[in-house]
Amino acid sequence: MRRLFPVTDMTAAGTPASDTAAASDREWSLDELADAYAYPAEAAFGPWLRANMVSSLDGAGQHDGRSQPLSSEEDMRIFGTLRALADVVVVGAETVRLEGYRPARAREVFAARRAAAGQGPAPVIAVVTASLDLDFSLPLFTEPLVPTLVLTGAASSPERRAEAERAGVEVVIAGDGPGVEPERAVAALAERGLRRQLTEGGPRLLGQFVAAGVLDELCLTVSPTMTAGGAQRIAQGPSVEVPKRFAVAAVLEQDGFLFTRYRRI
Ligand SMILES: NC(=O)c1ccc[n+]([C@@H]2O[C@H](COP(=O)([O-])OP(=O)(O)OC[C@H]3O[C@@H](n4cnc5c(N)ncnc54)[C@H](OP(=O)(O)O)[C@@H]3O)[C@@H](O)[C@H]2O)c1
Repeated sequence: MRRLFPVTDMTAAGTPASDTAAASDREWSLDELADAYAYPAEAAFGPWLRANMVSSLDGAGQHDGRSQPLSSEEDMRIFGTLRALADVVVVGAETVRLEGYRPARAREVFAARRAAAGQGPAPVIAVVTASLDLDFSLPLFTEPLVPTLVLTGAASSPERRAEAERAGVEVVIAGDGPGVEPERAVAALAERGLRRQLTEGGPRLLGQFVAAGVLDELCLTVSPTMTAGGAQRIAQGPSVEVPKRFAVAAVLEQDGFLFTRYRRI
């Protein structure tokens, strides 16, 4: 792994023959990754919503219904690190259904860092759904270290909500209709002290966060692959009136994968 941006004395590019360059082009420890991806200071006072997504060179956000074919070992290490830094992982119900989501694990390597940040052993998973058409007998709902949340609207099915609660799920209402309003979801989680927020998509959920202007940061892995076909992009839904502008904050590289980080301007 090497840092391409911001350019520092640890940047390999531009100093190809130096010892520093050789030292930077190596596997980073999980601690180093956690330092590189630390939430900004603002997250101590209010919500900070970060998304982590992977895209092919031609813009596909999935292949054969999954993101894994676009990913790499290093991408998965960063995925795990971003989870380890988060208070809550917000995810759309379709991604839970298609990717077979499991509860977040407590990882020894991040235990001290989480404790020092006042965090529990693992992030809370918050599933966004209007239908509550989820299998509440799955480990995600019955065996998490910290209870899984379901974010839904006030007009969603009371029967399905009761079923979720019987499984040990906490249901959070964040909308007046059947669905969730993105701003309310972010605020409702922050009210519970879950300020360091991470969304893992999918594209339909991310599109709504973008359109509502509540996405603070995008951690985008650019996968050196092309898929053609009609796959979803990383954000879907009605287009925004004016494209939202983001500024590059960091770019790391390994094996042709670019691990980029953009912040809302
Ligand atoms: N490239 C990547 O990094 C990445 C990341 C994640 C997922 N993916 C891929 O994306 C695909 C799935 O994504 P997707 O866009 O189809 O679905 P998604 O965003 O994961 O989930 C959509 C579902 O979330 C719920 N939902 C979304 N917005 C809501 C709102 N405002 N209020 C209430 N519920 C809401 C609805 O669930 P109900 O139907 O239950 O009401 C909706 O059907 C998979 O193929 C997955 O592999 C890619």
